[in-house]
Amino acid sequence: MVLIAPSILSADFLQLRAELLASQEAGADMFHIDVMDGMFVPNITVGPFVVQQIRRATVMPLDVHLMIESPDRYIMDFVRAGVDTLTLHIEADRHLHRSMTLIKECGCKAGVAINPATSVESLVEILPEVNVVVLMSVNPGFGGQEFIPRSIEKIRRLKDLINRMGLKTVIEVDGGVGPKNAAEVIRAGAGILVMGSAFYKSKDYKETVRAIRSA
Ligand code: DX5
Ligand code: ZN
Repeated sequence: MVLIAPSILSADFLQLRAELLASQEAGADMFHIDVMDGMFVPNITVGPFVVQQIRRATVMPLDVHLMIESPDRYIMDFVRAGVDTLTLHIEADRHLHRSMTLIKECGCKAGVAINPATSVESLVEILPEVNVVVLMSVNPGFGGQEFIPRSIEKIRRLKDLINRMGLKTVIEVDGGVGPKNAAEVIRAGAGILVMGSAFYKSKDYKETVRAIRSA
């Protein structure tokens, strides 16, 4: 079964606790938290302090996506903040093997994210070390962007690579995902769907979860 990860970037931040609760009651499986530094991506969002507050407000798994330069500098801060999965970009970290090892040693799941312009094949060496690959289906930085159609083919190729290597790595697809393309994304090989605007801009979260589950 596919897992649903609402991206709180599109939630109402002034009602964050209520939003978290409503998402959980609607049947979401984890929360996706986007951390941006204004360098790796043009936008700036939240840091470990906010993640720590969210950790206190929910028992749901926290899936933290770092879109920051040299993310290895902040691994321990996010581990201490209480993340469950910590994802770093392959384009931003020079020593990804070391970072993945450290994250796992800390008892968290280690994730690698790849931008739309980064090839699936560039993951070959690191794939055995990672629990999840976050395949970006938009250029990171903002919620509410259009899904890049080529991503479907890319998900298929990644799924194929994972199978050929005999791994169990989960594919998480991030950007422009919603009820209208969920079926195709799942069929291509996604195990986790990140949903920002399609989830939080929908009128009825339960209905959105139901639409995805029936996809
Ligand atoms: C984009 C972020 C996404 C974003 C997704 O940089 O990584 O997680 O919140 O939002 P939607 O689903 O609206 O594209
Ligand atoms: Zn994200």
